Amino acid sequence: MSAALAAVILAAGQGTRMKSALPKVLHEVAGQPLLAHVIAAARLAGAGRTVVVVGHGAEQVKTAFASTEVVFALQAQQLGTGHALQCAAPALAGFAGELLLLCGDVPLLRGETLIALLDHHRAQQATVTVLTAELADPRGYGRIIRGTNGVERIVEEKDATPSERAVREINTGIYAFTAPRVFKLLTGLTNDNAQGEYYLTDVIVAARASGEKVAALAVARVEEAMGINDRVQLAEAGKEMRARINEGHMRAGVTLVDPATTYIEAEVTIGPDTVVHPGVHLRGRTAIGRNCEIEPGVIVTDSSLADRVHVKAGSVLNQSTVGADTDIGPMAHLRPGTVLAGENKIGNFVETKKAAIGKGSKASHLTYLGDAEIGAGVNVGCGTITCNYDGVNKHVTVIEDEVFVGSDVQFVAPVRIGKGSLIGAGSTITRDVPADALAITRAEQKVIEGWVSRKRNKTPKP
Ligand code: UD1
Ligand code: CA
Repeated sequence: MSAALAAVILAAGQGTRMKSALPKVLHEVAGQPLLAHVIAAARLAGAGRTVVVVGHGAEQVKTAFASTEVVFALQAQQLGTGHALQCAAPALAGFAGELLLLCGDVPLLRGETLIALLDHHRAQQATVTVLTAELADPRGYGRIIRGTNGVERIVEEKDATPSERAVREINTGIYAFTAPRVFKLLTGLTNDNAQGEYYLTDVIVAARASGEKVAALAVARVEEAMGINDRVQLAEAGKEMRARINEGHMRAGVTLVDPATTYIEAEVTIGPDTVVHPGVHLRGRTAIGRNCEIEPGVIVTDSSLADRVHVKAGSVLNQSTVGADTDIGPMAHLRPGTVLAGENKIGNFVETKKAAIGKGSKASHLTYLGDAEIGAGVNVGCGTITCNYDGVNKHVTVIEDEVFVGSDVQFVAPVRIGKGSLIGAGSTITRDVPADALAITRAEQKVIEGWVSRKRNKTPKP
């Protein structure tokens, strides 16, 4: 049985270098706020309770995460990382077990790394275990000072001597602690240092002074410890996160023609043997089936595509459901509430919105279908428009199974077109059409023979 596990995530700092009205931890990588990635890592490590310490922009952060199971602790004044953890103590009153300390601006940390940290903490029977990293350029970080007995202390860059600054092993700011003992150690911290802050790093000296074990584990992939301070680092983290997501899909059998230009958010699922071309964005809760092909420049948001769907270049799909064996685009626009039953063809420059379209029905060119219920086996001709809006209200167009709609037809809703009927090209349909009828509203064609040559002869030559 592993011990109880809780996590504290520090997220009260200002993030000045982001130069943003948005709190730093709400900036996004791969479609989710930085803090969401950290919460996910804590959950993967098995944390039962997660406390987020908020301060700058506290209300915004709380609002953004109101629907999650995390609890918040307020650090009204940012007096340092040690003080920040103290602020989380009341939310963990009575908690005994292992405690992970994470930072809200370190989004690349993996759950498996935290599990390794906890394993090490347990094996060493430590009270404090710090996650460290060997960096070529350790500037800005706290340095790990080791003695004959392991880690003796951590010195902040601003407090370090030149020889301490030469140390390349740094403090990632991530720890495993044993609670409630760590909270007892915190009570002894002082702010007697270059920044006048209560440093969490000082728990190491406090632990050793009271005879408790301190341990350290070096992270294998140093990029996991990367903290985001500005938008350059935000972009770097986004790139790394995408590479990770993309690698996962490729290993699971998805072809990404050019992973460097493929933008897939964390929650997207894709079936094997699907091919995703360059410049594609798959966002939100999008689910894509097997054997699909997603051509260049396609953007899919919160949509679900069944198997063998082919989305051609430049199409945009949002909150739509697409049945199997369907072809979409190029340059089609499926707006929220589009539901295609399957075996459909939605061609170029076709826009759909709140449109349920039955099996095998086609709209191949230049069409708007909004607030429409369309049956199976319907052919919608080029240039068809559902006139769904009268300036005040939206109305529904119903087209039953097997209807053939000629080109350039307008349906002035509300209107119902009966099964198997035929709508002549160029018609403006304002009344219901019964089943199997022909409806046609254009004026009859007039032909005046010789009209052009007579006119030509009358016109004097220049
Ligand atoms: C801290 C560590 C340093 C380590 C580095 C890793 C200390 C004293 N130093 O330094 O050893 O190498 O992180 O990135 O701990 N925060 C609060 N309240 C505060 C202060 C900070 O919530 O009062 C939060 C910040 O929002 C941030 C995290 O704690 O998420 C780290 O704070 P930051 O100011 O970036 O610490 P560093 O000076 O970088
Ligand atoms: Ca920092």
